[in-house]
Amino acid sequence: MREFKRKRVLVTGGSGFLGSHLCERLMADGHDVLCLDNFFTGTKDNIRHLLSNPLFEVIRHDVTFPLYVEPDEIYNLACPASPIHYQRDPVQTTKTSVHGAINMLGLAKRVKAKIFQASTSEVYGDPDIHPQPEGYWGRVNPVGIRACYDEGKRCAETLFFDYYRQHRLRIKVARIFNTYGPRMHPNDGRVVSNFIVQALMGEPITVYGDGSQSRSFCYVSDMIEAFVRFMDAPDTFVGPVNLGNPVEFTILELAERIIAMTGSRSTIRFKELPSDDPRQRRPDIGLARETLGWEPTVALEEGLGETIAYFDRMLGSRSPMALTQEG
Ligand SMILES: NC(=O)c1ccc[n+]([C@@H]2O[C@H](COP(=O)([O-])OP(=O)(O)OC[C@H]3O[C@@H](n4cnc5c(N)ncnc54)[C@H](O)[C@@H]3O)[C@@H](O)[C@H]2O)c1
Repeated sequence: MREFKRKRVLVTGGSGFLGSHLCERLMADGHDVLCLDNFFTGTKDNIRHLLSNPLFEVIRHDVTFPLYVEPDEIYNLACPASPIHYQRDPVQTTKTSVHGAINMLGLAKRVKAKIFQASTSEVYGDPDIHPQPEGYWGRVNPVGIRACYDEGKRCAETLFFDYYRQHRLRIKVARIFNTYGPRMHPNDGRVVSNFIVQALMGEPITVYGDGSQSRSFCYVSDMIEAFVRFMDAPDTFVGPVNLGNPVEFTILELAERIIAMTGSRSTIRFKELPSDDPRQRRPDIGLARETLGWEPTVALEEGLGETIAYFDRMLGSRSPMALTQEG
Protein backbone atom coordinates (compact mmCIF):
# COMPACT_ATOMS: atom_id res chain seq x y z
CA MET A 1 0.00 0.00 0.00
CA ARG A 2 1.28 3.52 -0.84
CA GLU A 3 2.06 5.72 2.16
CA PHE A 4 -0.10 8.87 2.39
CA LYS A 5 1.85 12.10 2.11
CA ARG A 6 0.02 15.30 2.96
CA LYS A 7 0.90 17.85 0.29
CA ARG A 8 0.73 21.65 0.26
CA VAL A 9 -1.16 22.45 -2.92
CA LEU A 10 -1.58 25.86 -4.53
CA VAL A 11 -4.70 26.24 -6.70
CA THR A 12 -4.73 29.45 -8.76
CA GLY A 13 -8.25 30.44 -9.80
CA GLY A 14 -9.36 28.40 -6.79
CA SER A 15 -12.63 30.27 -6.22
CA GLY A 16 -13.85 29.70 -9.78
CA PHE A 17 -16.07 26.92 -11.10
CA LEU A 18 -13.45 24.18 -11.58
CA GLY A 19 -11.04 25.57 -8.98
CA SER A 20 -13.52 25.41 -6.10
CA HIS A 21 -14.37 21.77 -6.89
CA LEU A 22 -10.66 20.97 -7.11
CA CYS A 23 -9.94 22.61 -3.70
CA GLU A 24 -12.77 20.56 -2.21
CA ARG A 25 -11.45 17.31 -3.69
CA LEU A 26 -7.84 17.93 -2.58
CA MET A 27 -8.99 18.68 0.97
CA ALA A 28 -11.16 15.55 0.99
CA ASP A 29 -7.97 13.67 0.09
CA GLY A 30 -6.29 15.21 3.18
CA HIS A 31 -4.10 17.87 1.56
CA ASP A 32 -3.43 21.46 2.61
CA VAL A 33 -4.87 23.84 0.04
CA LEU A 34 -3.88 27.42 -0.67
CA CYS A 35 -6.55 28.94 -2.90
CA LEU A 36 -5.37 31.99 -4.87
CA ASP A 37 -7.82 34.21 -6.70
CA ASN A 38 -8.37 37.83 -7.69
CA PHE A 39 -12.16 37.22 -7.84
CA PHE A 40 -12.45 38.43 -11.43
CA THR A 41 -14.97 35.70 -12.27
CA GLY A 42 -14.74 33.56 -9.14
CA THR A 43 -16.86 34.30 -6.08
CA LYS A 44 -16.46 33.90 -2.34
CA ASP A 45 -19.76 31.97 -2.37
CA ASN A 46 -17.99 29.14 -4.21
CA ILE A 47 -15.55 28.62 -1.34
CA ARG A 48 -17.51 29.91 1.68
CA HIS A 49 -18.17 26.36 2.91
CA LEU A 50 -14.41 25.65 2.94
CA LEU A 51 -13.30 28.70 4.93
CA SER A 52 -13.64 27.15 8.40
CA ASN A 53 -11.65 24.04 7.44
CA PRO A 54 -8.08 24.14 8.86
CA LEU A 55 -6.76 22.56 5.63
CA PHE A 56 -7.92 25.61 3.66
CA GLU A 57 -6.41 29.06 3.17
CA VAL A 58 -7.37 31.73 0.67
CA ILE A 59 -5.27 34.58 -0.69
CA ARG A 60 -6.50 37.48 -2.85
CA HIS A 61 -3.78 37.81 -5.45
CA ASP A 62 -3.43 38.40 -9.18
CA VAL A 63 -1.26 35.78 -10.95
CA THR A 64 0.20 38.47 -13.18
CA PHE A 65 2.30 39.44 -10.13
CA PRO A 66 4.94 37.16 -8.58
CA LEU A 67 4.06 35.15 -5.51
CA TYR A 68 6.31 33.76 -2.79
CA VAL A 69 4.86 30.66 -1.14
CA GLU A 70 6.15 27.09 -0.82
CA PRO A 71 3.80 24.52 -2.30
CA ASP A 72 4.64 20.93 -3.32
CA GLU A 73 2.21 21.13 -6.24
CA ILE A 74 0.58 23.92 -8.24
CA TYR A 75 -2.62 23.71 -10.28
CA ASN A 76 -2.66 26.79 -12.51
CA LEU A 77 -6.33 27.45 -13.32
CA ALA A 78 -6.47 31.26 -13.06
CA CYS A 79 -8.04 32.67 -16.25
CA PRO A 80 -11.58 33.67 -17.20
CA ALA A 81 -12.96 30.81 -19.30
CA SER A 82 -16.04 32.01 -21.17
CA PRO A 83 -15.93 34.43 -24.13
CA ILE A 84 -18.16 36.99 -22.37
CA HIS A 85 -15.66 37.21 -19.53
CA TYR A 86 -12.36 36.84 -21.36
CA GLN A 87 -13.34 39.41 -23.99
CA ARG A 88 -14.30 41.98 -21.35
CA ASP A 89 -10.60 42.87 -20.83
CA PRO A 90 -8.66 41.01 -23.54
CA VAL A 91 -5.28 42.54 -22.66
CA GLN A 92 -5.66 41.35 -19.08
CA THR A 93 -6.71 37.89 -20.39
CA THR A 94 -3.47 37.47 -22.33
CA LYS A 95 -1.50 38.80 -19.37
CA THR A 96 -3.23 36.35 -17.04
CA SER A 97 -2.30 33.41 -19.26
CA VAL A 98 1.21 34.49 -20.17
CA HIS A 99 2.49 36.47 -17.16
CA GLY A 100 0.52 34.11 -14.91
CA ALA A 101 2.33 31.12 -16.45
CA ILE A 102 5.72 32.86 -16.16
CA ASN A 103 5.11 33.67 -12.48
CA MET A 104 3.80 30.23 -11.57
CA LEU A 105 6.54 28.43 -13.51
CA GLY A 106 9.14 30.64 -11.81
CA LEU A 107 7.65 29.72 -8.45
CA ALA A 108 7.61 26.00 -9.34
CA LYS A 109 11.25 26.22 -10.40
CA ARG A 110 12.28 27.99 -7.17
CA VAL A 111 10.59 25.54 -4.82
CA LYS A 112 10.85 22.46 -7.10
CA ALA A 113 7.07 22.01 -7.24
CA LYS A 114 5.20 19.95 -9.79
CA ILE A 115 2.92 22.19 -11.89
CA PHE A 116 -0.34 21.56 -13.79
CA GLN A 117 -1.65 23.86 -16.50
CA ALA A 118 -5.36 24.18 -17.28
CA SER A 119 -5.09 24.54 -21.05
CA THR A 120 -8.05 24.27 -23.37
CA SER A 121 -9.51 22.67 -26.47
CA GLU A 122 -9.50 26.23 -27.85
CA VAL A 123 -5.78 25.79 -28.64
CA TYR A 124 -7.11 23.80 -31.65
CA GLY A 125 -8.97 26.94 -32.79
CA ASP A 126 -11.41 26.31 -35.64
CA PRO A 127 -10.11 22.81 -36.43
CA ASP A 128 -10.19 21.13 -39.80
CA ILE A 129 -10.08 17.61 -38.32
CA HIS A 130 -12.57 15.93 -35.97
CA PRO A 131 -12.13 14.81 -33.27
CA GLN A 132 -8.81 16.48 -32.46
CA PRO A 133 -5.92 14.31 -31.24
CA GLU A 134 -3.18 15.96 -29.17
CA GLY A 135 -0.77 15.85 -32.14
CA TYR A 136 -2.96 18.28 -34.12
CA TRP A 137 -1.40 21.78 -34.11
CA GLY A 138 -4.63 23.72 -34.47
CA ARG A 139 -6.01 26.51 -36.66
CA VAL A 140 -6.15 29.72 -34.65
CA ASN A 141 -6.67 33.25 -35.92
CA PRO A 142 -3.94 35.22 -34.11
CA VAL A 143 -5.65 38.60 -34.56
CA GLY A 144 -9.30 37.70 -33.93
CA ILE A 145 -11.36 38.53 -30.85
CA ARG A 146 -10.85 35.04 -29.39
CA ALA A 147 -7.06 35.24 -29.76
CA CYS A 148 -6.52 36.80 -26.31
CA TYR A 149 -7.70 33.49 -24.86
CA ASP A 150 -6.59 30.98 -27.52
CA GLU A 151 -3.15 32.45 -28.17
CA GLY A 152 -2.63 33.23 -24.47
CA LYS A 153 -3.23 29.56 -23.66
CA ARG A 154 -1.02 28.44 -26.56
CA CYS A 155 1.82 30.65 -25.35
CA ALA A 156 1.36 29.29 -21.82
CA GLU A 157 1.75 25.75 -23.22
CA THR A 158 4.95 26.85 -24.97
CA LEU A 159 6.31 28.26 -21.71
CA PHE A 160 5.46 25.06 -19.85
CA PHE A 161 7.28 22.91 -22.40
CA ASP A 162 10.30 25.24 -22.48
CA TYR A 163 10.57 25.13 -18.67
CA TYR A 164 10.31 21.35 -18.96
CA ARG A 165 13.08 21.11 -21.58
CA GLN A 166 15.30 23.89 -20.27
CA HIS A 167 14.89 23.50 -16.49
CA ARG A 168 13.65 19.90 -16.16
CA LEU A 169 10.54 21.16 -14.40
CA ARG A 170 7.86 18.56 -13.68
CA ILE A 171 4.91 19.76 -15.79
CA LYS A 172 1.40 18.51 -16.60
CA VAL A 173 -0.49 20.16 -19.46
CA ALA A 174 -4.21 19.31 -19.75
CA ARG A 175 -6.40 20.43 -22.67
CA ILE A 176 -9.83 20.77 -21.13
CA PHE A 177 -12.98 20.43 -23.25
CA ASN A 178 -16.38 21.85 -22.22
CA THR A 179 -17.21 21.03 -18.64
CA TYR A 180 -20.43 21.76 -16.74
CA GLY A 181 -21.84 21.45 -13.24
CA PRO A 182 -22.82 23.38 -10.13
CA ARG A 183 -21.04 26.75 -9.62
CA MET A 184 -20.93 27.60 -13.32
CA HIS A 185 -21.74 31.25 -13.86
CA PRO A 186 -25.44 31.77 -14.55
CA ASN A 187 -24.91 34.39 -17.31
CA ASP A 188 -21.71 33.53 -19.09
CA GLY A 189 -23.31 32.49 -22.36
CA ARG A 190 -22.54 28.77 -22.13
CA VAL A 191 -25.22 26.51 -23.50
CA VAL A 192 -25.86 24.26 -20.49
CA SER A 193 -26.18 27.07 -17.94
CA ASN A 194 -28.11 29.26 -20.44
CA PHE A 195 -30.68 26.56 -21.15
CA ILE A 196 -31.12 25.64 -17.48
CA VAL A 197 -31.59 29.25 -16.37
CA GLN A 198 -34.02 29.96 -19.23
CA ALA A 199 -36.00 26.79 -18.40
CA LEU A 200 -36.13 27.56 -14.67
CA MET A 201 -37.28 31.10 -15.38
CA GLY A 202 -39.92 29.84 -17.84
CA GLU A 203 -38.34 31.92 -20.62
CA PRO A 204 -38.02 30.69 -24.21
CA ILE A 205 -34.93 28.55 -24.76
CA THR A 206 -32.74 29.98 -27.51
CA VAL A 207 -31.45 27.41 -29.98
CA TYR A 208 -29.21 28.61 -32.78
CA GLY A 209 -29.78 27.06 -36.23
CA ASP A 210 -32.02 23.98 -36.30
CA GLY A 211 -30.35 22.53 -33.19
CA SER A 212 -28.89 19.55 -35.05
CA GLN A 213 -25.29 20.62 -34.31
CA SER A 214 -23.71 18.31 -31.74
CA ARG A 215 -21.77 19.01 -28.55
CA SER A 216 -20.26 16.98 -25.75
CA PHE A 217 -19.98 18.06 -22.12
CA CYS A 218 -18.05 16.58 -19.22
CA TYR A 219 -19.48 16.65 -15.71
CA VAL A 220 -17.26 18.48 -13.23
CA SER A 221 -16.55 15.53 -10.87
CA ASP A 222 -15.22 13.49 -13.83
CA MET A 223 -12.97 16.38 -14.84
CA ILE A 224 -11.57 16.83 -11.32
CA GLU A 225 -10.84 13.09 -11.12
CA ALA A 226 -8.82 13.43 -14.33
CA PHE A 227 -6.85 16.43 -12.93
CA VAL A 228 -5.84 14.51 -9.81
CA ARG A 229 -4.94 11.33 -11.71
CA PHE A 230 -2.83 13.33 -14.16
CA MET A 231 -0.98 15.14 -11.35
CA ASP A 232 -0.29 11.77 -9.66
CA ALA A 233 0.81 10.06 -12.89
CA PRO A 234 4.54 9.41 -13.44
CA ASP A 235 6.65 12.53 -14.11
CA THR A 236 7.45 11.19 -17.57
CA PHE A 237 3.83 11.79 -18.64
CA VAL A 238 3.66 15.54 -19.18
CA GLY A 239 0.89 15.81 -21.81
CA PRO A 240 -0.58 17.66 -23.50
CA VAL A 241 -3.58 15.43 -22.89
CA ASN A 242 -7.19 15.98 -23.93
CA LEU A 243 -9.72 15.75 -21.10
CA GLY A 244 -13.45 15.79 -21.83
CA ASN A 245 -16.47 13.66 -22.49
CA PRO A 246 -16.70 12.18 -26.00
CA VAL A 247 -20.43 11.36 -25.77
CA GLU A 248 -22.25 13.61 -28.22
CA PHE A 249 -25.78 14.91 -28.24
CA THR A 250 -27.54 17.52 -30.31
CA ILE A 251 -28.33 20.96 -28.98
CA LEU A 252 -32.03 20.34 -29.58
CA GLU A 253 -31.85 17.10 -27.57
CA LEU A 254 -30.18 19.03 -24.74
CA ALA A 255 -32.89 21.71 -24.75
CA GLU A 256 -35.68 19.10 -24.75
CA ARG A 257 -34.11 17.14 -21.90
CA ILE A 258 -33.68 20.24 -19.78
CA ILE A 259 -37.29 21.28 -20.39
CA ALA A 260 -38.48 17.80 -19.38
CA MET A 261 -36.25 17.60 -16.29
CA THR A 262 -37.21 21.03 -14.98
CA GLY A 263 -40.90 20.54 -15.76
CA SER A 264 -40.69 23.94 -17.44
CA ARG A 265 -43.30 25.51 -19.70
CA SER A 266 -40.52 27.08 -21.80
CA THR A 267 -40.83 26.90 -25.55
CA ILE A 268 -37.88 26.63 -27.95
CA ARG A 269 -37.02 29.73 -29.96
CA PHE A 270 -34.86 29.15 -33.03
CA LYS A 271 -32.39 31.87 -34.05
CA GLU A 272 -29.99 32.21 -36.94
CA LEU A 273 -26.77 30.21 -36.56
CA PRO A 274 -23.70 32.44 -35.99
CA SER A 275 -21.19 32.06 -38.82
CA ASP A 276 -18.37 30.64 -36.68
CA ASP A 277 -20.51 28.03 -34.89
CA PRO A 278 -18.83 24.61 -35.26
CA ARG A 279 -21.06 21.71 -36.40
CA GLN A 280 -19.39 19.37 -34.00
CA ARG A 281 -17.01 19.49 -31.05
CA ARG A 282 -15.82 16.29 -29.47
CA PRO A 283 -12.58 15.30 -27.73
CA ASP A 284 -10.45 12.33 -28.68
CA ILE A 285 -9.59 10.97 -25.22
CA GLY A 286 -7.64 7.88 -26.32
CA LEU A 287 -4.45 9.13 -24.67
CA ALA A 288 -6.16 9.87 -21.32
CA ARG A 289 -7.81 6.43 -21.36
CA GLU A 290 -4.54 4.71 -22.06
CA THR A 291 -2.24 6.64 -19.72
CA LEU A 292 -4.53 7.65 -16.85
CA GLY A 293 -7.02 4.78 -17.05
CA TRP A 294 -9.61 7.54 -17.03
CA GLU A 295 -12.89 8.14 -18.79
CA PRO A 296 -16.01 10.04 -17.77
CA THR A 297 -18.55 8.06 -15.75
CA VAL A 298 -21.35 10.56 -15.05
CA ALA A 299 -24.21 10.33 -17.55
CA LEU A 300 -25.75 13.52 -18.92
CA GLU A 301 -29.05 12.96 -17.10
CA GLU A 302 -27.31 12.62 -13.73
CA GLY A 303 -25.03 15.62 -14.23
CA LEU A 304 -27.91 17.76 -15.45
CA GLY A 305 -29.93 16.77 -12.36
CA GLU A 306 -27.21 18.12 -10.03
CA THR A 307 -26.72 21.26 -12.10
CA ILE A 308 -30.44 22.03 -12.33
CA ALA A 309 -30.77 21.61 -8.54
CA TYR A 310 -27.88 24.06 -8.05
CA PHE A 311 -29.33 26.75 -10.32
CA ASP A 312 -32.76 26.24 -8.81
CA ARG A 313 -31.33 26.97 -5.33
CA MET A 314 -29.42 29.95 -6.73
CA LEU A 315 -32.43 31.48 -8.46
CA GLY A 316 -34.52 30.76 -5.36
CA SER A 317 -38.13 31.75 -5.38
CA ARG A 318 -37.91 33.38 -8.79
CA SER A 319 -37.89 30.00 -10.51
CA PRO A 320 -41.22 28.34 -11.39
CA MET A 321 -39.75 25.00 -10.21
CA ALA A 322 -39.33 26.42 -6.69
CA LEU A 323 -42.90 27.71 -6.79
CA THR A 324 -44.13 24.22 -7.70
CA GLN A 325 -42.16 22.73 -4.81
CA GLU A 326 -43.52 25.29 -2.36
CA GLY A 327 -47.08 25.07 -3.60
N1 LIG B 1 -14.89 25.16 -17.67
C1 LIG B 1 -14.50 24.74 -18.86
O1 LIG B 1 -15.29 24.14 -19.60
C2 LIG B 1 -13.05 24.95 -19.29
C3 LIG B 1 -12.69 24.49 -20.58
C4 LIG B 1 -11.37 24.70 -21.00
C5 LIG B 1 -10.44 25.28 -20.16
N2 LIG B 1 -10.82 25.71 -18.92
C6 LIG B 1 -9.80 26.35 -18.08
O2 LIG B 1 -9.92 25.96 -16.73
C7 LIG B 1 -9.63 27.05 -15.87
C8 LIG B 1 -10.79 27.27 -14.91
O3 LIG B 1 -11.97 27.56 -15.66
P1 LIG B 1 -13.40 27.77 -14.97
O4 LIG B 1 -14.43 27.24 -15.89
O5 LIG B 1 -13.35 27.31 -13.58
O6 LIG B 1 -13.50 29.35 -15.06
P2 LIG B 1 -13.81 30.44 -13.92
O7 LIG B 1 -13.92 31.75 -14.61
O8 LIG B 1 -14.97 29.99 -13.09
O9 LIG B 1 -12.51 30.38 -13.02
C9 LIG B 1 -11.35 31.10 -13.28
C10 LIG B 1 -10.86 31.68 -11.96
O10 LIG B 1 -9.64 32.38 -12.17
C11 LIG B 1 -9.72 33.62 -11.48
N3 LIG B 1 -8.82 34.57 -12.15
C12 LIG B 1 -8.97 35.14 -13.38
N4 LIG B 1 -7.93 35.95 -13.65
C13 LIG B 1 -7.10 35.90 -12.57
C14 LIG B 1 -5.88 36.51 -12.24
N5 LIG B 1 -5.27 37.36 -13.08
N6 LIG B 1 -5.32 36.25 -11.04
C15 LIG B 1 -5.92 35.39 -10.17
N7 LIG B 1 -7.09 34.78 -10.42
C16 LIG B 1 -7.67 35.03 -11.61
C17 LIG B 1 -11.17 34.02 -11.53
O11 LIG B 1 -11.54 34.97 -10.57
C18 LIG B 1 -11.85 32.66 -11.34
O12 LIG B 1 -12.03 32.36 -9.97
C19 LIG B 1 -9.35 28.26 -16.77
O13 LIG B 1 -7.95 28.41 -16.90
C20 LIG B 1 -9.97 27.86 -18.08
O14 LIG B 1 -9.30 28.47 -19.18
C21 LIG B 1 -12.11 25.55 -18.48
